[in-house]
Amino acid sequence: MSSGFWKDQNVLITGLTGFIGCWLAECLCEAGAKVIGYDLSGDGALPLHPGLKEKITLIKGDILDPKNLEDAFRKHGVSVCFHLAGQSMIEVGESSAQMTFEVNVRGTWSVLEAAKKAGVERVLVSSSNTAYGEQKEYPFVETAPLNGSHPYAASKACTDIITRSYAKSLKMHAVACRQTNTFGGADFHLTHIVPSTILSVLKGEEPIIKSDGTPRKSYLYVEDTVQGYIRLAEEAHRPEVSGQAFNITSDSSPSVLELVETVIEVSGKKMSPKITGTPETTRKEHEALSQEKARQVLGWQPRYTLREGIKKTYEWYQDHQKEIEKLVSRHH
Ligand SMILES: NC(=O)c1ccc[n+]([C@@H]2O[C@H](COP(=O)([O-])OP(=O)(O)OC[C@H]3O[C@@H](n4cnc5c(N)ncnc54)[C@H](O)[C@@H]3O)[C@@H](O)[C@H]2O)c1
Repeated sequence: MSSGFWKDQNVLITGLTGFIGCWLAECLCEAGAKVIGYDLSGDGALPLHPGLKEKITLIKGDILDPKNLEDAFRKHGVSVCFHLAGQSMIEVGESSAQMTFEVNVRGTWSVLEAAKKAGVERVLVSSSNTAYGEQKEYPFVETAPLNGSHPYAASKACTDIITRSYAKSLKMHAVACRQTNTFGGADFHLTHIVPSTILSVLKGEEPIIKSDGTPRKSYLYVEDTVQGYIRLAEEAHRPEVSGQAFNITSDSSPSVLELVETVIEVSGKKMSPKITGTPETTRKEHEALSQEKARQVLGWQPRYTLREGIKKTYEWYQDHQKEIEKLVSRHH
């Protein structure tokens, strides 16, 4: 993080109360920014970040209301916007495709339009690893076609293209961040593979792998994801950054089985995962994003290995198991 850049900068995060938004807000507050959150939800993961609510200004609002957003940008003199709000779950995309497109696609142009009108200088938008879909060549570089095929992936491919078009045609500093699967403490989406495996292991139950264990994906510890976002915002004025997409990713792609075994190994317990899928029921997935562009243009690379990130995450859930289960049960 550049020293001084964030001091007294007015920064608005859409989706602040979500999993990654809270971590990003923590980091920006630490760096001296004045952080404003804009979210439909008034709490989300906030209760899992003690003291954070008191450090930020939270506006309860919908990204599908561009006038309200524009007013928020103007009222707070916002110079940087991180747009993280969205429908973030693949399985919800399958059951509620139209809502996913509304929030992720219309929501994106609504944020960019409001930011443009209010004169926000830099906008960072959450795209996704899933935007790539199936590829012929590995690892996926940013010039690869966006083949995301299920509704969530397709919505993120649209998000990505819309963001870059605003930068190119409407002369804004806007960047699409193709972050990979992010894990860390205080993730209240307990269907995500890392928290669900950790909670099973903590309870002494065999973690269940619903596939045959072979699908490969990249995973990134949340503090590294947040640093990637921050680097992109700091560099967003440069012509080789604005109007571009960047992979924010680890450079390994473990199989689901290897990931689950890493959790078990970190826990120090003796157990084996229960594999319930077969090769016939498993979708062949191999997702591997290239880190090269972010390394070269931003000088960004992850600080944590997969094992180190899993260890920090495991320790977080060990210390907050009851708290997170209570929070999640309150929301269902
Ligand atoms: N978590 C990951 O592994 C991952 C990977 C790639 C991309 N992403 C993307 O990064 C972003 C943040 O991810 P996350 O895991 O923190 O998601 P999250 O679901 O925890 O947070 C999303 C936030 O957006 C808010 N929101 C939803 N609809 C809204 C609306 N209409 N108006 C205002 N707020 C609204 C929700 O209340 C929530 O607080 C999302 O856009 C997601 O698609 C996440």
